[in-house]
Amino acid sequence: MKELLKKMTLKEKIGQMMQLSPFFFIADLEKEAAGPIRELDLNQEKIFSAGSILGVGSSEEMVAVQKKYLSKNRLGIPLIFMADIIHGYKTIFPVPLALASSWNREVVKTAARISAIEASSSGIHMTFSPMADLVRDPRWGRCVESFGESPLLVAEFSKAMVEGYQQNDLKKTGNLGSCVKHFAGYGAVEGGRDYNTVDLSLQTLHSTHFAGYRSAIESGCVAIMTAFNLFEGVPCTINKDLLQKVLRDQWHFSGITISDYDSLHEVISHGVAENSKDAAAMGIEAGLDIEMASTCYINHLETLVNNHQIDLNLIDEAVLRILELKKQLGLFENPYKGAIPSAEQTMVRCPEFLSATKKAATESAVLLQNDGTLPLSTSQKIAILGPYAASTKTNGPWSWHGYNDNNASLNDVLLSRKIPVVFSKPADSLEEYTDHDIDRIRQADILLLALGEPENWSGEAHSRADISLPGKQASFVEFAATLNKKAVVLLQNGRPLILDNILCASAILETWFLGSMASEAICDLLYGIANPSGKLPMSFPRSHGQIPIYYNALQTGRPNTNETHPQEYVSKYLDSPNSPLFPFGYGLSYSTFHCSNLCLSAKRMKENDSLVVSITLENQSPIDGTDVIQVYLGDPVARISRPVRELIAFRKISLKGNEKTTVSFELTKKELSYRLKDGSLVTDPGKFILYVGDDPNQLLQNDFFLE
Ligand code: GLC
Repeated sequence: MKELLKKMTLKEKIGQMMQLSPFFFIADLEKEAAGPIRELDLNQEKIFSAGSILGVGSSEEMVAVQKKYLSKNRLGIPLIFMADIIHGYKTIFPVPLALASSWNREVVKTAARISAIEASSSGIHMTFSPMADLVRDPRWGRCVESFGESPLLVAEFSKAMVEGYQQNDLKKTGNLGSCVKHFAGYGAVEGGRDYNTVDLSLQTLHSTHFAGYRSAIESGCVAIMTAFNLFEGVPCTINKDLLQKVLRDQWHFSGITISDYDSLHEVISHGVAENSKDAAAMGIEAGLDIEMASTCYINHLETLVNNHQIDLNLIDEAVLRILELKKQLGLFENPYKGAIPSAEQTMVRCPEFLSATKKAATESAVLLQNDGTLPLSTSQKIAILGPYAASTKTNGPWSWHGYNDNNASLNDVLLSRKIPVVFSKPADSLEEYTDHDIDRIRQADILLLALGEPENWSGEAHSRADISLPGKQASFVEFAATLNKKAVVLLQNGRPLILDNILCASAILETWFLGSMASEAICDLLYGIANPSGKLPMSFPRSHGQIPIYYNALQTGRPNTNETHPQEYVSKYLDSPNSPLFPFGYGLSYSTFHCSNLCLSAKRMKENDSLVVSITLENQSPIDGTDVIQVYLGDPVARISRPVRELIAFRKISLKGNEKTTVSFELTKKELSYRLKDGSLVTDPGKFILYVGDDPNQLLQNDFFLE
């Protein structure tokens, strides 16, 4: 690629560092008297020097744009087509927060794999995924796109997605380049308000928030996207500490860096650049390779080089990385790679893919409460109430290629299975039901209450200050109680919610947004065809006042060790327990699982040894089921204060009725290590405590000594 770089003019080099939406390549530029082309000071020459394109709707559109582009590009350097394929392309999988609830690496990897097959058949070469932002504030709209609050889960599932997308062979049709995002710490926006300030310590960044990005890079992702927020007062998009010191020097990342949408230009709004020219200089100095959607680079870099205000080598380094990526993707051999209209028609939403997303959905739902009402019997008369009684909008945010219209509603599926549905009518509040409706509801044995948030109440720019159930939805549960009917709440939501006012329900099934086969999966779970196995990847607070609340909290100097009878001067609230309503790692099953016999292979461990931890898991019911054994570590004395317990390993185990097994984990020094604020990985000798089990409210405990 160095030979090609030598042939390029400065304008052509700078063009490679710009990413635009397809609009600019399709519009009739002569007629564009006003609008974005003028606002961005673009013209035909600049547009057709761009290096990559954001989004494309179909293989036909991709071929048309690439063909037009190559006809105007002197050196025939093809465009990279990038897009947001977050949890599916045409076959939509559960949203990432739901996929994380499956605690199943293979489920996450399969979702990425199928997404890549479908998206690449439309000519997409790279996806802006995984979103590896660690989250602790449920008010944030983008919790829905995350893998939750655990560094280990975020790291494991980011890795699974990169492997699913790339398959270690980017030239191969059906594979996508993976761009991990948003670097860094975007999930820590203050107040959970999107695009707000982030104020993190380097210690928290390295030990917690970096886990997913680092894991994606170690898994070979080819790009990383900078975050809208700042770190230590400097916008991430021009933050040299992050983009050079951490990314290049510490992590030896050799892929490309790309800004978020307009985030280079927004350095001006952050109050750090005077104008676009300043922003361009700061971006290239920091190591930003591609500018997405804004035009600071294309409009100012040439002047900055000619005035010797920036070093041309910085541009050459960036452009070389971009050309190398195009080579890795095989675009010089085949600029139309992947765009196969016939495949686009046959492969997408094929039975195999729909079956995969249904499996993912059944594993991603979390049973939060059940008085034995679930599973239902097919003879029970059903009434479906609430705002989502007839909804097909189960794809969730970031799924616009997925068409909710193709999805079945809960009502559709129940009727198709000849379930006796005596009433089904969506309503935002009870007042919308007539006396006649109420009479018909009284005939039912079970009230299915389809409650939660609309699809567009989570996702980018959709944070909430009040995360209660919207409107008067709790009244549906109270209404069921007045009728002395069993109420089963089916929650659809993109974040943890405050659920303290629906705990009188007989059962609560957290279904998030489960994608294309949501209703089919929910019905399988309701009738015991599938047995719930999901566990929460984020804590559900009792009240807004507890936020932020997360499982891997530090002990503090005055720990509240007795929630029911707290002492006076300890870290507590006067009006609430410290614990969440539903904790991280919690989820019920129709089976009755029991953990016992936590054993360690030794009580002392040398640092180059390994230690085997084993526990007996028994299914004490006749119902086949799947459980998740979780291993948490406590490090009571270390160089810095460590979480009371931190998830270091987990495994999903399926057992037949009345079956018993022993689950073992081999721990090495790696699992005992943690990051200091300089990013170094350290381990301290001394006592370690292990908390192991399938329910965070009742874990077995044992300890050992590291020499
Ligand atoms: C958006 C999002 C980012 C997405 C990008 C391209 O603003 O922050 O996650 O990948 O723009 O659509």
